[in-house]
Amino acid sequence: MVEIIDGRKIAAAIREELKQRTDKLKEKGVIPALAAVLVGEDPASLSYLRSIARGCEKIGMLMETAELPENITQEALERKIEGLNKNPKFHGIILQLPLPKHLDTLKAESAISPDKDIDGTNPVNIGKLLLGEETFLPSTPYGVQELLVRSGHSPEGKHVVICGRSNIVGKPLMGILVQKQKKANATVTVCHTGTKALPSITRQADILVAAMGKAKAITADMVKEGAIVIDVGVNQIEDPATGKFKLVGDVDFEAVKEKAGAITPVPGGTGPVTTAMLMANTIKAAERRNT
Ligand SMILES: NC(=O)c1ccc[n+]([C@@H]2O[C@H](COP(=O)([O-])OP(=O)(O)OC[C@H]3O[C@@H](n4cnc5c(N)ncnc54)[C@H](OP(=O)(O)O)[C@@H]3O)[C@@H](O)[C@H]2O)c1
Repeated sequence: MVEIIDGRKIAAAIREELKQRTDKLKEKGVIPALAAVLVGEDPASLSYLRSIARGCEKIGMLMETAELPENITQEALERKIEGLNKNPKFHGIILQLPLPKHLDTLKAESAISPDKDIDGTNPVNIGKLLLGEETFLPSTPYGVQELLVRSGHSPEGKHVVICGRSNIVGKPLMGILVQKQKKANATVTVCHTGTKALPSITRQADILVAAMGKAKAITADMVKEGAIVIDVGVNQIEDPATGKFKLVGDVDFEAVKEKAGAITPVPGGTGPVTTAMLMANTIKAAERRNT
């Protein structure tokens, strides 16, 4: 019988722990606060930021979003980020992606102070991650690690195959899980569009992570019997039965669940845990400044 890994339940347990840490900070007069920077009015980004705000509110954290115009210049965006770096009210800053094409994402991410870079996108923090040093782990791969460990499927000693090598999911997840550390110490293979014979590699995975942005790309024949399957993908597709749009992952859930040992659903898998890890990193930043 396949185990459905419930991301919402795991996120709720994490939030419970975070609330206790927030309460302790409040006793010292500190309210952990997160600033989000949004350029333009992308509805998906707005809805994502609202869901983070709801999570923050539940545990007594503060979150504010700076909504900037679509046509903002690089200089003005970096000035805004500099202002947030200097503002003592905020412990963490996230820059919502994607940015409009005229803006340089890496330059903007580099402008976030490493001490407030709670989504681990500043090159300084990415370097620390690769070196195995203490830093802010990017929320989505950090969430995948927590999902695995908290559901009893530690990656230690396992062969983890990651499909996708983006800077926000695949590459940092590889960097996290390959470390000679607790909750990691895995053998990691990273696949991408240049990978030949992808199914022959995914079938070797004890833990298979799909982060491709391709609806239902991982089919049952690509999965080893009993493997743990973590679906990071979020894709909107039209349901032929209803004509309405629905969210699906990068894994063909219905077919793969017949073969996997455990699997995350979409929605309700990695998404809620990503949000919880953003909050965790903000609290960590507040604790760092106040101990
Ligand atoms: N759950 C969450 O919290 C969360 C957070 C972030 C993202 N996401 C979702 O996760 C998915 C991935 O996001 P991302 O930002 O990492 O995407 P991305 O930047 O588009 O990267 C996709 C990666 O997948 C690889 N890929 C695409 N098609 C492939 C195929 N057929 N075979 C093998 N590799 C393939 C690409 O290879 P190349 O490098 O060769 O192009 C690329 O490395 C998206 O659906 C996104 O919405 C979810």
